[in-house]
Amino acid sequence: MTAMDCQRMASDKGLWYLENLVCPIDRTGLRFDGERLRSKNGRCYPIVDGVPVLLVSSGKQTIGLANASIERAQGRSDVIDQRARELYLESLGLNDEEKAEVARLWKGKLTAIDPVVAMIIGATCGNAYKDLTKKLSLTEYPIPSIRLTSASTGDALLDIGCNWGRWSIAAAKKGFSAVGIDPSLGAIMAARRIADELKPDIKYLVADARFLPFRNERFRAVYSYSVLQHFAKEDVRRTLLEVSRVLEPGAVAKIQMANKLAFAAFNSKQAGNRTSPKNLRFAIGRSVGVLSGHRQHADLRGLLLRTWLAMVGFPLHRAEIQACAYCLGGVATIERCYCADAIGG
Ligand SMILES: C[S@@+](CC[C@H](N)C(=O)[O-])C[C@H]1O[C@@H](n2cnc3c(N)ncnc32)[C@H](O)[C@@H]1O
Repeated sequence: MTAMDCQRMASDKGLWYLENLVCPIDRTGLRFDGERLRSKNGRCYPIVDGVPVLLVSSGKQTIGLANASIERAQGRSDVIDQRARELYLESLGLNDEEKAEVARLWKGKLTAIDPVVAMIIGATCGNAYKDLTKKLSLTEYPIPSIRLTSASTGDALLDIGCNWGRWSIAAAKKGFSAVGIDPSLGAIMAARRIADELKPDIKYLVADARFLPFRNERFRAVYSYSVLQHFAKEDVRRTLLEVSRVLEPGAVAKIQMANKLAFAAFNSKQAGNRTSPKNLRFAIGRSVGVLSGHRQHADLRGLLLRTWLAMVGFPLHRAEIQACAYCLGGVATIERCYCADAIGG
């Protein structure tokens, strides 16, 4: 914790953290003890270079790099990737070669955009960004358009699994007061560097979708793209319950869900989500149009009705689902009360 961190906690952003954050385990309020955030029950959460790290260290993580974030935030010097300490490389979802390349690009100032983004971009949007991966000539960040109506002043949006923050920036452009969370300290630091550069006012912190460190009913919208589809079913349930808790009454969440019948699911053994050969044949047949009565790349909604949403018991007739061509998954718009219904809460 540096003097700069103390200053940051005294800033408007720091005050927002103190007013809105809770302990992700017992949900009691947090206070800044001059070094860390401390819950009423004495649990402590580190602040790294002004960014609160509110991960829960016990239990299985949804992604291994969360452990690296925790260890680095706890001050373990042996885990630090010394090739560029300030980039928190050890907690990035990149292989060793890619990390070495990021360090080289960073030190030589060889890319117009942040080198972490230049390397990680493919992983944030799968095949849709395949052509952008390692494209070091990129001069602008690809910011998508978010399918949400513009916000009224002060409407808060939570971007779950934000990585380098493209959806948080998209939300800020629509007038939302965006808050991005991700368990990767390195990704959150990259997101913050980009926000500092592009100037949208976004709050970033290191946290887990399953243990949201926010007070109840804090958000007008929750958005999450390409995150829950990688989770085990139990983690999806837990996350939906948390989403329900932090949404304001009447608010909605837009969450991309995986499709049990998608090609990607064929190899996904995690969460027992592996689709059967019969289902896979059906999915292929349907998407390439070999099954009678189906046009090529036709309406995917039939497939979407078997998303994980159904697997976790969500009443599908209450969800508006938009097709996503790549993964044959879809973005489901979920009303707050039905998030709770989905898991019987
Ligand atoms: C495929 S990337 C998508 C990133 C971003 N949503 C986008 O569309 O650009 C998946 C992200 O989910 C994050 N993630 C994994 N487990 C998570 C968890 N338990 N809570 C929140 N985010 C998580 C990963 O660190 C990674 O940044």
